[in-house]
Parts: sequence; C-alpha cells; structure tokens
Amino acid sequence: MKYDPIDSSLFKNNRKRFMQHMKPASLAVFNSNDVFKTGADSTMPFKQHKDLFYLSGADQEDTILVLFPECPDPQHREVLFVTETNEHIAVWEGEKLTKEKATEVTGIETVYWLKDFDKKFFEMMTQAEVIYFNTNEHYRQAVEMETREDRFIKKTKAQYPAHTYAKSAPIMQRLRAVKSPLEIQLMQRACDITNQGFRRVLNFVRPGVTEYEIEAEYLHEFISNRSDGFAYTPIIASGNNANVLHYIENNQECRDGDLILMDVGATYANYNADMSRTIPVNGRFTDRQKQVYNAVNNVKKTATELLTPGTLWKEYHVEVGNLMTAELLALGLLDKVDVQNESKDWPAYKKYFMHGTSHHIGLDTHDYGLLWEPMQAGNVFTVEPGIYIPEEGFGIRLEDDVVVQENGSPINLMADIPIEVEEIEELMNT
Ligand code: GLY
Ligand code: MN
Ligand code: MN
Repeated sequence: MKYDPIDSSLFKNNRKRFMQHMKPASLAVFNSNDVFKTGADSTMPFKQHKDLFYLSGADQEDTILVLFPECPDPQHREVLFVTETNEHIAVWEGEKLTKEKATEVTGIETVYWLKDFDKKFFEMMTQAEVIYFNTNEHYRQAVEMETREDRFIKKTKAQYPAHTYAKSAPIMQRLRAVKSPLEIQLMQRACDITNQGFRRVLNFVRPGVTEYEIEAEYLHEFISNRSDGFAYTPIIASGNNANVLHYIENNQECRDGDLILMDVGATYANYNADMSRTIPVNGRFTDRQKQVYNAVNNVKKTATELLTPGTLWKEYHVEVGNLMTAELLALGLLDKVDVQNESKDWPAYKKYFMHGTSHHIGLDTHDYGLLWEPMQAGNVFTVEPGIYIPEEGFGIRLEDDVVVQENGSPINLMADIPIEVEEIEELMNT
C-alpha cells in the first residue's frame, strides 16, 4: 500500500459502533478477500474486503477478525488473526504484519497467527450462542463467485449446527453509509488526487491523442500521489464512444471537434473518488456542445441542492427526472407530446438520460447505504446527470462527490475540479 498511516482510532470507533448493534452472547467474524489467480503462479493485485478494512484497517490477505463483545475472556473481545510471518517469509514475499505492527495499525491488542484460528475459534464458539456471518447484501451485488466468506460460512454451519446465525450486512450498511470526519478526510484526498489527474489531462489533450494515452496520464498522476490507482476501470470515451455507458476499451484516437467523456477516479487508502468530466478535444466547445453541457451542469447543480437530510433517494430521482425533462424540452430533444404520452415506468427523459443520478460512495465506489431510509448528514453521494445523443455524435456526463450536511447545502469534495465551460476552455488554451 502506498498511503500514509491512518489513525487507528478510526477503526476502533467503527468496531465499537458495530458491537453496539450486536445481540447478546454473539460473536461476528469477518474474512479477508481471496487472492485471485490468473494462471501459472501469477495473481491479481490483492484488494482487501472493505468490511474487514473498515473494522480493522488490516490491509493484508489471509486475515480474520472476530468481535465478541461479551466474551468472558476480555482478551477475546476483539481478536485479529494474521498469516504468520518470519524472516524467511519477509525475504521472499516482503514485509507482512508482525503481531506488534498489526496491533499498531488496528488498535487490536490480541493478535494470533492464522494457523491457530480453528482452536481459538472453537473456544470462543463454545462461549457464544449467536454467530454473525458477513453475507453480501449490496443492491448491485454479483453472486456468481464463491468467496472466502462463503466457504467459511459453509464450514462453520457444518461444524456448529446448534448456534443461531445472524447477518452483519444490515449493521454494516447502516454504519458505512454515514462517514466520520476521518473518512471524509481520506475521501477528500482521493478527490484531490483525481483533481490533479484531471488538470494534467487538460494540459495534455489535443487532436490526435489516444484515449489510452489519456488513461496513462491519469495513472501516472495518481500513483505519483500515493494512490493505488484507479477506483474503478476508467472510461475515456471520445465522440460516440461516450454513448456506450460502460465503454472501457479506451483505444481510439481523439478527433478534432469531438468531446471526450472521462469517468475516472483515484483510490486512496481504499477510499474512492468517482468523477466525470466531458471536455472538447480541441479545447473549444461548439455552441451546440456548450448548450447541452450547460443543461447537464444545470441539472447537476439543482440536484445537488436536493441532497439534504430527510430526502428519500427514490423521490429525489423523480425530482431530478423532472429537472432533466425541462432541460431536454428546452434543447428541443423532447417535445410536449413526448412528455404527455410518457410511461410512468420509463419517462421520456430516459431516452437521453438512462442511468441513476446518485449512489453512495466510500470504501466501495457503489457503496453501502440504506436507500429506503431518509438521507442523513454524513452520507456521501455522487451527483452524475448526463445527456447522451448518438445522433449528434456525443454524450456528456458531469459527476461530483458530495457530503450531506445537517444544515444547508452539501459540501462538494470536488469543488476544486474545473467544471464550468469557460474554466475548461481557459485551462486547455493556456
Ligand atoms: N464510475 C461509476 C459510476 O459513475 O457509477
Ligand atoms: Mn463515475
Ligand atoms: Mn458514479
């Protein structure tokens, strides 16, 4: 990891808050992610499970966290298991967490080697009635792959059939949705690094550059600033590529007169930024491009103001739909008859703006959050309206990450990232 050390009070507080939600006589187990093989002896870069990171700060494979707030043995109320390290392993694989270092990073006093897990876990299970499993209940989850957590659940159910099982997911969704000031600082850093990348690209783009060269410029700037890289696979979509929402080929040349839609964010300390900007290849928007750009920007500004405590995510999306409809009418892309005849399930504006406006963001780019509960201070959302017009050869999306405040407008973590037409044109032409 390239990031600076994080104050372990972040993880201590997170554990404390999780344990406050646990049932009597219960323990909770959190497993790290697998390391994925790519063939022969190669692996993909390791990515920690975000729940385990949130509760411990341990950023290493083969790690297990057990929380058991009412354990009769006070040493076993918070226990971390890490893979055994020694000087031989250090020479071959690099430095791994020693027990002392693990305590320093996580604030957890009791650290055991992973090889002792079964024995220690048996002892703790005999003292508990309920076990919390960490199943994935995110609304966009993909279920095809069996995770380390899934294997652990199978094995534990077979071995301890008389325990009661409970779910960590609802607690994690609730906790992770509201960011603490330390988390906001880490997210601000991810956004600031993204800003640096964008400004570098504004200086770099001109007719003839390729989408992959732009991707490389971002990556250079991100890694030079202690980011581990992209928060998600970046979209660098020039011309009509912008109308393929998940375009990630990034292999075309950028042509004079076209726009480039860039949906790119840096990750920092496992926290993510999610930004979209759309810029002209030659440094100047045409009148029509400017007109559509400003329509998207208007929707974005007004939508941002709606992100206040008490707002319901679903109703917010209906409101934003109304804003977008008004802009599309003004642009001549929709007419009154389209709107009069629209279906409630697929309103007319969806022809040009077919995705959602906002999602929670944090340790995951599409983060946890209770979407059916009213918004509250500390929620961090993206705001990302777009207008996609294949028949005119361009698509525009603008996206910032904002923090809901107790009172007043949200704080925009991307307020310093250029967005107005005049700013973009000036920066591209100096
Ligand atoms: N970059 C993914 C998204 O905007 O949701
Ligand atoms: Mn995005
Ligand atoms: Mn997004």
